[in-house]
Amino acid sequence: MMFMMNPTAPVTIRKGLSGTASSRRRSGRGTAGPSIVPDLAPCGIMALASGDHPPSTRHNGAPPMNVLITGGAGFIGANFVHQTLVRHPDAKVTVLDKLTYAGNRGSLADLGERVDLVVGDIADADTVDPLVAGADVVVHFAAESHNDNSLRDPSPFIRTNLVGTFTLLEAVRRHKVRFHHISTDEVYGDLELDDPAKFEPTTPYNPSSPYSSSKAGSDLLVRAWVRSFGVEATISNCSNNYGSYQHIEKFIPRQITNLIDGVRPRLYGAGANVRDWIHVRDHNDAVWDIIERGRIGETYLIGADGEKSNREVVELILELMGRDPNDYDHVADRPGHDMRYAIDSTKLVQELGWSPRYTDFRSGLRATIDWYRGNEAWWRPLKAEVEAAYAAQGQ
Ligand code: NAD
Ligand code: TYD
Repeated sequence: MMFMMNPTAPVTIRKGLSGTASSRRRSGRGTAGPSIVPDLAPCGIMALASGDHPPSTRHNGAPPMNVLITGGAGFIGANFVHQTLVRHPDAKVTVLDKLTYAGNRGSLADLGERVDLVVGDIADADTVDPLVAGADVVVHFAAESHNDNSLRDPSPFIRTNLVGTFTLLEAVRRHKVRFHHISTDEVYGDLELDDPAKFEPTTPYNPSSPYSSSKAGSDLLVRAWVRSFGVEATISNCSNNYGSYQHIEKFIPRQITNLIDGVRPRLYGAGANVRDWIHVRDHNDAVWDIIERGRIGETYLIGADGEKSNREVVELILELMGRDPNDYDHVADRPGHDMRYAIDSTKLVQELGWSPRYTDFRSGLRATIDWYRGNEAWWRPLKAEVEAAYAAQGQ
């Protein structure tokens, strides 16, 4: 098991684990509150503050809740860590993250004593087992997550998304720990542009890419471990997320950072493909609702009725950044490019009372643009390599 040390990193890098969840609870370690990162409260969008949610019911003398978050240095996982510290003032968070090209310890900066970062691989049982043994709940975000990369080389997708999820499932089975699996709407394949249908929990799986098929396989593993071994797990399949800390290989941050650099946005094909955009914080709020109140063995779909064509999104980014909305280039299309995703989140809304709060896409996008403008040090080191990889395939 390898732990990487960085003396300048503000998160605690744990070198070893001291016992189980209950023995760590008795130690009473780490009661400092979270620092609210200013870039999570940019203009036009609701601030992340402790009043955002009713306080956790656990902290009247109860031991702290130990939350193990895989992939917590990635986009959605890092936002989830920030939100968890606010929503659960009693929680202690351990992040297990391999820090692949997509992981960034800077996304966990200044979070204090309540967050430990363990640098390790979810497919390594020796790393995973003691961490799961010490957890009250495992929230599993870690994945290879980018379709374009899966078309270049599928192999890490199979190892992380399938073998990694299997390794975690075996550990939660052994230690009887609650598990929540984060997945994507892409497992359902795609819809036609004029199809009135949306994805529902009963929609048959029909994945298109190595990425979505590896996620589909991981979902099926979770379902089987619930049924065969009684693992206490839930699954959520969410639509496309946007917000701060998203890797600049992805659509929205790629175009924003291109424009900051004076480069025209790049639209695959005609740009007619539709994605159902949701703000990352709405996704993560739903995940906590499912962990707290969801039924074991159930799948919940998370979406905020945010369907937009890629062309509409690019034109809005251009407008918000003070440019001519037609000032973009069409580039080579993605092979097998899914046409449309759309989520029906009725089950989540009716059963758990979840509703999205960041529903004004224009204001959420403006805040996201401001975040990338204000955090160039976070993304600049990645930009040249990302663009070189796209250029090599005419994109
Ligand atoms: P991301 O690529 O930004 O982050 C993934 C994180 O996982 C990184 O920090 C990376 O270092 C880590 N990781 C990768 N392989 C690992 C391994 N073997 N062991 C430990 N850590 C490893 O991804 P994201 O966009 O934050 O997505 C998180 C999850 O949400 C994924 O499971 C993805 O399928 C799902 N999801 C994403 C979206 C979206 O729009 N981004 C939508 C729906 C679902
Ligand atoms: P992406 O962010 O990769 O998410 P996903 O493939 O999971 O939907 O891409 C979102 C959409 O944007 C998708 O239809 C592909 C398209 N796209 C572009 O048009 N240009 C780009 O530069 C990128 C990265 C994506």
